[in-house]
Amino acid sequence: MQTVNRIDPLRDAVGALRREGPLALVPTMGALHEGHLTLVREARRRAAHVAVSIFVNPRQFGAGEDLAAYPRRLAEDSALLAAEGVALLWAPTAEVMYPAGYATNIAVTGVSDGLCGAARPGHFDGVATVVCKLFNQVRPDLALFGEKDWQQLAVIRRMARDLDLVRPHVDRIIGVPTVREADGLAMSSRNAYLTPAERAAAAALPRAMQAAIARIAAGTPVDAALAELVAALHAGGFAAVDYAALCDAGTLAPLAERGTGPARLLVAARIGRARLIDNMAA
Ligand code: PAF
Repeated sequence: MQTVNRIDPLRDAVGALRREGPLALVPTMGALHEGHLTLVREARRRAAHVAVSIFVNPRQFGAGEDLAAYPRRLAEDSALLAAEGVALLWAPTAEVMYPAGYATNIAVTGVSDGLCGAARPGHFDGVATVVCKLFNQVRPDLALFGEKDWQQLAVIRRMARDLDLVRPHVDRIIGVPTVREADGLAMSSRNAYLTPAERAAAAALPRAMQAAIARIAAGTPVDAALAELVAALHAGGFAAVDYAALCDAGTLAPLAERGTGPARLLVAARIGRARLIDNMAA
């Protein structure tokens, strides 16, 4: 595996890889877990070569968020990726990504307004901006993202469609189902913030979500099922629930009742130092 952290060698490396066949990109912020490795394995199935980026993007963290504390483990991550057969690790510094004088921002309206967009103002501008840059830097044929960040995936697809991105074309932005621990908790780099007691309590999140989905399917009004979900999280040790919403799976518009189209239950809740997000088909 080749590791590069400057633009010129990156262009040479991706040029050589793309001559051998389709190149897939898996963008990450590092602190890799089984969820990321699942993305890499899926990428390897779909492309001749896989590039992974590791960049803890300051522009997607708000004031007072966990930018400084975000786990950074480049050496361990690099060993994991090499063992998975990744061809290229793109690990730019903040100065390479945002050199002095950097002044451009990508804002995707609509799909990024509610949910995490409302709870974390500016977050999705930071995500759209860095992902657009990563796409332009690596020029992959396809890119893979975890469905755990369902709203992020919707924002990235909207951005790719609106900006007529060629590489990767919007149809080649692949969402990969969430990987879960044995007790149902979605894998996340932020699970590392949890104490053992908080980690055990955090399994209340997927449990409460499944219960809410079952209640809605059985005819409980959506607002009542969501209120029960929030109460279950508080009872289970969560300090705050940023949102719990049933939404149209594509537009993320909130649904007051379960219609016939694809719907998604999305939740963000805080326990200990961690803000956990999850989503499920509903
Ligand atoms: O999902 C993430 O890890 C990040 O938001 C991403 C897509 C790598 C952009 O920084």
